[in-house]
Amino acid sequence: MERWQPVSVLSNIRRGEVAGVRIGGHEVVLWREDAQAATLHAWEDRCPHRGMRLSFGFVRDDALGCLYHGWQFGGAARCRLIPAHPRVRVPASIHVRTYTVREHAGLAWVSMEGAEDFPHRQADWPEHAQPVRTVHVHAPVGQVRHAVGLAPDGGMAWHGPVGLAVHEPVAGQAMLHVVRAADGPSALTLSHWAERLRDAVEGGVQTAPVMAELAAGATA
Ligand code: FES
Repeated sequence: MERWQPVSVLSNIRRGEVAGVRIGGHEVVLWREDAQAATLHAWEDRCPHRGMRLSFGFVRDDALGCLYHGWQFGGAARCRLIPAHPRVRVPASIHVRTYTVREHAGLAWVSMEGAEDFPHRQADWPEHAQPVRTVHVHAPVGQVRHAVGLAPDGGMAWHGPVGLAVHEPVAGQAMLHVVRAADGPSALTLSHWAERLRDAVEGGVQTAPVMAELAAGATA
């Protein structure tokens, strides 16, 4: 697996929101603080109490609360409150496993190995790329990457004002993430285009004509 995975368009994780994603078969929860800093976090999607998915939980006061018994985990991933025992000082050993996450080019990128360097920041990418949508494709990730012109170790492929990235949620499936520069085609137009590309990949027909729409600016 690559060290940094583009796992979601940022429009899916606004302030105070929670989203569950899969990365190579692993369940990961993305959540964003609800106060001023609005920091984005990526954690294992599993409560250390009884294993409930934290992506079913809620954000309150910059903490992620578990839906089951309400344990709250602060930004450092340590449990800071057990509602059934509010006076108990929670041991530091109760914490959630964390991953590193970066926000770039309209996408959330996660390293499950905890990498700190982020090699996908490139000067020629639009500084303020806007998220469009993520499309689920029932096809191997390598097939989708090939269709959109992504090198095996490439993080993102830009076709003029349209940026495309792909990650593998589970074996045999792919998530295609679409972003746009401010002067690119509309989000609605690109959303329909992404569906045509998905249909072509899943239908086993030529994807080149769909990709050519981008090159020709036909989606604009
Ligand atoms: S399972 Fe999460 S608080 Fe109990």
